[in-house]
Amino acid sequence: MFTKIEHGPLMDRVYRHQRHFYDATRKYYLLGRDPMIAGLNPPERGSILEIGCGTGRNLILAGEAYPKTSLYGLDISHEMLATAQKKIEAAGIGKRVKLAYADAAEFNPQVLFGRRHFDRIFISYAVSMIPQWQTVVEQAVGHLAPNGSLHIVDFGDLADLPTIARKALYTWLDWYHVTPRNDLFDVAEAIGLQNNAIVHKQQLYRGFSWITIIRRKSV
Ligand SMILES: C[S@@+](CC[C@H](N)C(=O)[O-])C[C@H]1O[C@@H](n2cnc3c(N)ncnc32)[C@H](O)[C@@H]1O
Repeated sequence: MFTKIEHGPLMDRVYRHQRHFYDATRKYYLLGRDPMIAGLNPPERGSILEIGCGTGRNLILAGEAYPKTSLYGLDISHEMLATAQKKIEAAGIGKRVKLAYADAAEFNPQVLFGRRHFDRIFISYAVSMIPQWQTVVEQAVGHLAPNGSLHIVDFGDLADLPTIARKALYTWLDWYHVTPRNDLFDVAEAIGLQNNAIVHKQQLYRGFSWITIIRRKSV
């Protein structure tokens, strides 16, 4: 286990070179991202935050799908943020997107983005890389507007894979500091219960990827 202080530099080391071919390679195995974006369904002029936004790929697609929304992204890797900023400018949506450097486990959205709440927050393949991911999920729910929802997509428990393939995949993911969160659904249920929120769970691709949605009720 690495400490929080080392986590940003670690992510920069992981992504310094990979960020240049990240989107081209990840489309084959970061499955479920597009269905997750399709399910965001924000209010027409709503606000959307991605925690751990990486190269900005998801924010660009969300911007296309929901053209009047305001978009926000944060990440702990300067390297990833540099790529995200470039891609977002190239996509022509620079004016609608604000990016910030921050640790998902302790950020103040008012300081970073000048707003306290978001209509939608999503976390795509980042809970499997964040040691304090449960705190991140708890805090994200606290940053939701009334009727807001938090959408998480990540690796599932891979239970349908043959044992040998599952072990090989876990080893490979570990090289990249990725740990599938097999208790993601249980943790989402518990956090939903604490916050009087409704929790949805979806398994895709025979459990390869999981989506969970924590939806706040109106106050
Ligand atoms: C596997 S990438 C996913 C990127 C993007 N969400 C996607 O779906 O393509 C994980 C991202 O989470 C970021 N990350 C990891 N730990 C973080 C933390 N504690 N706070 C903010 N971002 C973090 C990494 O820097 C990286 O950009």
